[in-house]
Amino acid sequence: MPGIPPQEAVTVYGGYVRYYHSTESCRDLARLAEERKLKQVLACCGGGDQALTLLAGLDKKGIFWAFDLQPAQLFVLAAKALYLLERKSPPFYPSFSVIQKMYPGRISAQPPDRRRVDRLYDARLKCFRDPFKMFQKRFLYECDGGLFEDGQRTPFWSRDRDYCQCICRNIVRLRLLRGDLFYLDHFFKPATVDLIYVSDISLVAAQDFLLQRISATVALLRRGGCLAANADSGERFLGNGISVADMLERNSSRLGLMAGGVSGALKVFEKA
Ligand SMILES: C[S@@+](CC[C@H](N)C(=O)[O-])C[C@H]1O[C@@H](n2cnc3c(N)ncnc32)[C@H](O)[C@@H]1O
Repeated sequence: MPGIPPQEAVTVYGGYVRYYHSTESCRDLARLAEERKLKQVLACCGGGDQALTLLAGLDKKGIFWAFDLQPAQLFVLAAKALYLLERKSPPFYPSFSVIQKMYPGRISAQPPDRRRVDRLYDARLKCFRDPFKMFQKRFLYECDGGLFEDGQRTPFWSRDRDYCQCICRNIVRLRLLRGDLFYLDHFFKPATVDLIYVSDISLVAAQDFLLQRISATVALLRRGGCLAANADSGERFLGNGISVADMLERNSSRLGLMAGGVSGALKVFEKA
């Protein structure tokens, strides 16, 4: 079986972390998990909050794979999962510095360059100076390569004992996989997966070979399964890139997908 459990992931993964708190709505994801019977799930890891939120809704015989290109992101998810398992009282969610201390030398991060952001921002006019004014402050933090960490953004379940118990019950079914969304067919069989969550992955350009590759990923879904994406338009590369959500929407009939609903920024596509 591909992937490794969290206990092993904290010993083999690590590195430079970009995403710690989720930029996506965990409530929308909790709703998605509640509405569906999830036995086999593939979820893009990012800061791990999305994966943990969806994990709560996994079937008791299910398996959940969190995948990411970056081993440091997989480490963050594994460390958060193990922290949850050990925690008896709230908050059930560690800060970045807590996990850094728990696992010395495994992860590091560059703080966001606030001075650069401030130089681009006109505090008097409360907007960004040209040519950056169309961008969100959050986006500039990410452009700068700094750690995206915002203590206000802890997931809704960070103090919810019942929800955390549902997550904990399923941690034994969690596997972490260093892998590429566009090459998941190297690890999994066609028509076996109930949900593929692609987060808000963005691409610099829509290239034909990526469309071919995403169609191999879509083929992993069983009939009635779905692919969900976060379609937050603030996340594109300087306004020029394309999100995976857009790519799916523009090519849905070619990929055998039907638009299956929108909840906030979350877009769901069903396998026809
Ligand atoms: C764009 S980031 C956003 C983080 C996310 N919004 C969150 O709240 O945690 C999503 C994650 O996708 C990963 N990623 C980007 N392209 C990928 C790909 N082709 N396959 C797998 N993971 C990818 C990045 O390493 C990053 O951790």
